[in-house]
Amino acid sequence: MSEIAIEAHELGKRYTLGVRGRGYGTLRESLVEAAKRPFDRGRRERQPKGDQLWALKDLSLTIRSGEVVGLIGHNGAGKSTLLKILSRITEPSAGYADVTGRVGSLLEVGTGFHPELTGRENIFLNGAILGMRRAEIQARFDEIVEFAEMERFLETPVKRYSSGMSVRLAFAVAAHLEPEILLVDEVLAVGDAAFQRKSLGKMNEVAKAGRTVVFVSHNLAIIQALCSRGVLLERGRVKADAPINEAIDRYLRTLESAASEDLLQRSDRDNRAYDETLVRHLEIRDAGGTPNVVVAGRPAAIVVDVTEHLPSMECQLTIVNSLGQPIATLDSEMLAPVDVRGPEPGTRLECRIESLPLLPGRYRIDVIVKAKRHIQDGLQAAAFFDVEPGMIGERPIAAEADGDVSLPHSWRLPA
Ligand SMILES: Nc1ncnc2c1ncn2[C@@H]1O[C@H](COP(=O)(O)OP(=O)(O)OP(=O)(O)O)[C@@H](O)[C@H]1O
Ligand SMILES: [Mg+2]
Repeated sequence: MSEIAIEAHELGKRYTLGVRGRGYGTLRESLVEAAKRPFDRGRRERQPKGDQLWALKDLSLTIRSGEVVGLIGHNGAGKSTLLKILSRITEPSAGYADVTGRVGSLLEVGTGFHPELTGRENIFLNGAILGMRRAEIQARFDEIVEFAEMERFLETPVKRYSSGMSVRLAFAVAAHLEPEILLVDEVLAVGDAAFQRKSLGKMNEVAKAGRTVVFVSHNLAIIQALCSRGVLLERGRVKADAPINEAIDRYLRTLESAASEDLLQRSDRDNRAYDETLVRHLEIRDAGGTPNVVVAGRPAAIVVDVTEHLPSMECQLTIVNSLGQPIATLDSEMLAPVDVRGPEPGTRLECRIESLPLLPGRYRIDVIVKAKRHIQDGLQAAAFFDVEPGMIGERPIAAEADGDVSLPHSWRLPA
């Protein structure tokens, strides 16, 4: 029987809204707050100042050494808060968490780095925080730098790094300083695709070597490939703790029931957004106006209704497959001559698709509405829809075709 690596007992974390990051926390938290500031795009305060919110509540969880656990749940469910408590970046308001073993963590962008120090100095600082001796860090140094592809920027203060560079270095440090427990938040999504692949390979290696991994992602395909156990959080509590496929199924079902709720009632909104609640309704329609059932190869329109008109609103829609993998982004900021704006102010944004290139299956739409260069509101899974078999170009599409999209094409074959 393997030992226990993480034991969380009735954990609670209470935030006082409007007094972010003050009055509690560790030395490291203050360092981290400073490091984070440039990336902090203004988390909205959804309630009046002074109101309290339990980001985690009565959360108990035991993770054995060597387990690879995926942490899933809506925006605001408490995933990042749990990882921050486990990595001692913040302290719980109730309960306790025992973590046995050296922890490497990769949390929000910039977390764990000191902005004024160079990349080289930060590698040593992080090693020291992990309790490593200088010689041990030195032995790993070249490997870290090579993995992060950072040779040229080693002597540059971290505050000058792009967010992608910070993530590369942070991941390299977290994964190479031989942690016994690796905690990784969503941030990998910031890196480019090649680095993401490399990082996932590295995480797999760490997991195979029998280390404990706790991983947060909205990309369920990645979670499914990497993790064997899934913990679903909802409003700060454990909603399901099960083999990964079962946990993902539960999550998809809660996503669907959220999409059928009144969107204005949803509290799991994009935490970068400025506005309270702007997106009122979203649906995809076929040419006849039927909502949320469309036919492959036929015209479709995605309609977003917002509560008020803002000057020069922009809209970004992401179509996501049933495993949580984004397959297409439709972004009004990428201008094209076919776009039409105005002339009247209005509260409807519409995206037309001439011929829907999706294969039969179930998809969802995530939405972000921007204005004045800021995200005003955002919702994952604002609507779900089904694609029925049809013709793409002049070619029939089989109901059971593999993949998500169809490319218009033609063949040249021998007689
Ligand atoms: N420093 C803070 N001060 C006040 N509230 C906070 C703070 N950090 C997080 N919260 C709130 O706590 C709740 C849980 O946030 P957390 O970041 O843990 O969610 P999450 O599951 O990681 O969400 P996401 O998927 O959007 O990353 C949210 O309602 C969030 O707004
Ligand atoms: Mg988070």
